[in-house]
Amino acid sequence: MTVTEPTALTLDEKAALTSGANFWWTKEAGGVAAVRVSDGPHGLRWTDTDAPSAVARSAPSTCFPPAAGLAQSWDPALAGRVGVALGRECRMRNVDVLLGPGINIKRSPLGGRNFEYFSEDPLLTAAMATGWVRGLQSQGVGASLKHFAANNAEHDRMRASSDVDPRALREIYLRAFQQVIQDAAPWTVMCSYNRLNGVLVSQNHFLLTQVLREEWGYDGLVVSDWGAVADRGAAVAAGCDLAMPSPGPDSGAELAAAARAGAVSEADLDRAVARLADLSRKAADGRAAWASREPGPGYDVDAHHALAWEAATRSVVLLKNDPVGDRGPVLPLSASESLAVIGVFAATPRYQGGGSSHVTPTRVDSPLEALTAQAGAVTYAAGFTVDGSGPDEALVAGAVAAARAADAAVLFLGLDAKQESEGFDRTTIDLPAEQVQLAAAVAAVNPRTVAVLSHGGVLRLAPLTAVVPAILDGALLGQAVGSALADVLLGAVNPSGRLAETVPVRIEDTAAFLNFPSEHSHVRYGEGIYVGYRWHDARDLPVEYAFGHGLAYTSFGYSGLSLAAVADGIEARVTVTNTGQRPGREVVQVYAGLPGSSVARPPRVLAGFAPVDLAPGQSQEVTITVRQADLAYWDRRVDRFVVEGGTYAVAVGASSRDLRLTGHVTLTGDGVRIPLTLNSTIIETLADPVAGPLVKEAFSTLAGGGEQDAAEALGVDLLSLIGSSPIGRMVSFSGGAVTREQIEQLLAAANAAAG
Ligand code: BGC
Repeated sequence: MTVTEPTALTLDEKAALTSGANFWWTKEAGGVAAVRVSDGPHGLRWTDTDAPSAVARSAPSTCFPPAAGLAQSWDPALAGRVGVALGRECRMRNVDVLLGPGINIKRSPLGGRNFEYFSEDPLLTAAMATGWVRGLQSQGVGASLKHFAANNAEHDRMRASSDVDPRALREIYLRAFQQVIQDAAPWTVMCSYNRLNGVLVSQNHFLLTQVLREEWGYDGLVVSDWGAVADRGAAVAAGCDLAMPSPGPDSGAELAAAARAGAVSEADLDRAVARLADLSRKAADGRAAWASREPGPGYDVDAHHALAWEAATRSVVLLKNDPVGDRGPVLPLSASESLAVIGVFAATPRYQGGGSSHVTPTRVDSPLEALTAQAGAVTYAAGFTVDGSGPDEALVAGAVAAARAADAAVLFLGLDAKQESEGFDRTTIDLPAEQVQLAAAVAAVNPRTVAVLSHGGVLRLAPLTAVVPAILDGALLGQAVGSALADVLLGAVNPSGRLAETVPVRIEDTAAFLNFPSEHSHVRYGEGIYVGYRWHDARDLPVEYAFGHGLAYTSFGYSGLSLAAVADGIEARVTVTNTGQRPGREVVQVYAGLPGSSVARPPRVLAGFAPVDLAPGQSQEVTITVRQADLAYWDRRVDRFVVEGGTYAVAVGASSRDLRLTGHVTLTGDGVRIPLTLNSTIIETLADPVAGPLVKEAFSTLAGGGEQDAAEALGVDLLSLIGSSPIGRMVSFSGGAVTREQIEQLLAAANAAAG
């Protein structure tokens, strides 16, 4: 079918094209072929019906670790391979666009959809999502970067306004979107449900056109989140090209009528239609390339399961591994030990989140079965229920008895699907009390007790940390959860995951605590740029487990840090040595800060990272390039990112709180000159190379000592007293001795000299 140019389409055809045919298909009109989209994104949720009940009945597909789990791998190349596999599964079912990845920043640990998002940090988020999108799109299947933007809570999600200041918006909430768009060119971007600073995102011209198109140069399609559009005409005018799903049979005609009446511009419609035609072309090319390359009937289900296993093993974080008695650290367990496997999640694992991303796996490895197959003697006890009925004495007694009789106890704890899902936020980060009590009771009879956690959002772990010597954090690991955990527990795999989100000591310590969730449909992002570890570090708050933390069954040493300013950033070289007995992977992290910065900043931010695999005793020099752009702050005076010149403190280490080596490197920076006006302060004017000396001179003659004497009498320095006054006010401060014209001439000369 030939695609007609948008201008050749009738108005009705154009209007029709800008909304879906149903839940999963765009419309076909005027020679533009329909496109098939599908949910996921950590698996393909393929269903041919719109019925909500179909959420749980999609066709089987490989369930990879959801973003909260996969992010813990800190491995963008692995995310890329997962993307490739997802692309293949999509192509097998003729799906043109997979609706993901979700890349919103985890602003509060209570965010109900945090399991679908990667991290509290934009750089890590962008790196993982870029790998994923590139992998997916290499198979001729488009991504949909979602949910754009500042959609960080579920409460009142279709009305609440995220009230965010420009720095936080640019530096935290838009940064990963900008990066992925520039580095991976996703076919589509999904605009979110919420409002941003009062304006519905689907109708937000600033976001969808000014930022996305004009500033970032994005030329793909903007699709609405499902049901996010309230006013079709306003959405098209703002830059939302496609309203999904179908807004009803009359909607196209209504939009066409609005265009005829002049309420919607035909040029706006043309733009949207051109993007739909472009998406349709990409989809057709993707299908054609696939058909010529891969004529076979299906994908290799076993190979994809093996990849799901690999991704899961890489995503497990060893939070704690204390020695018990004289036998050294509890983990790894030995296959010859007898194990008490306790907790319902051992038999019925929790491995993905709930809501639109829920997929039907091709199979599920249960931890209990995997451990039973690999370890010597295994006894199982449920230990607790997840029906909310509280502690069950008989179940606790059974678990305690099993633990007492075994060499080691493995507790599978976590959150049930009912406790976290799309659609609502959590109200607590506590593990259910009965699980903490069970852990204490089990550890009291068996000191070699390991806790294994399954959950989408962060948990408060202080009570658990206090009673068990070892904790493995599985977050959500996808369908290979059981075999992956068993392999880590028994040492076949050396854990290498790192936390992508801070584990706070208390929810009260977290950045958004006082401003979450929304109230009367507004949520104030009062913490500004201080999200996640940025907040904890700036406030010097203790954390339970730091961002970037993760242990291994080996240890790593750092030496020989060298730093150099390079063309567009900083090159950090460091030698990492595996100082332990097992092969392992270290995730080398680079953090950068600018002491004495002219703008508010956290002490340090993640500026680069690299996983490195090392044999026992092996050393390797690792080079990490920090992109200058990642050090930039958003300067609201000039509305752009600015790299501040100065001496940056660069630290390299194993987590945001385990910094092994530190150095300094000086960057020239961009330099920002704000033209001087009558509203520039005396201090700003004094700092100017041309105006400064003249103002200084004028001060000494004009003040005639009187103001200085008065300031001294007050015990302050004159500049501290009046330095923040606009220079224009000198007219009145000088009693008219300095005229407005004189100041204007001075400022004009300074501005002209600055060019
Ligand atoms: C979710 C999206 C999803 C869409 C389609 C919405 O409710 O927010 O993430 O892709 O539904 O199911």
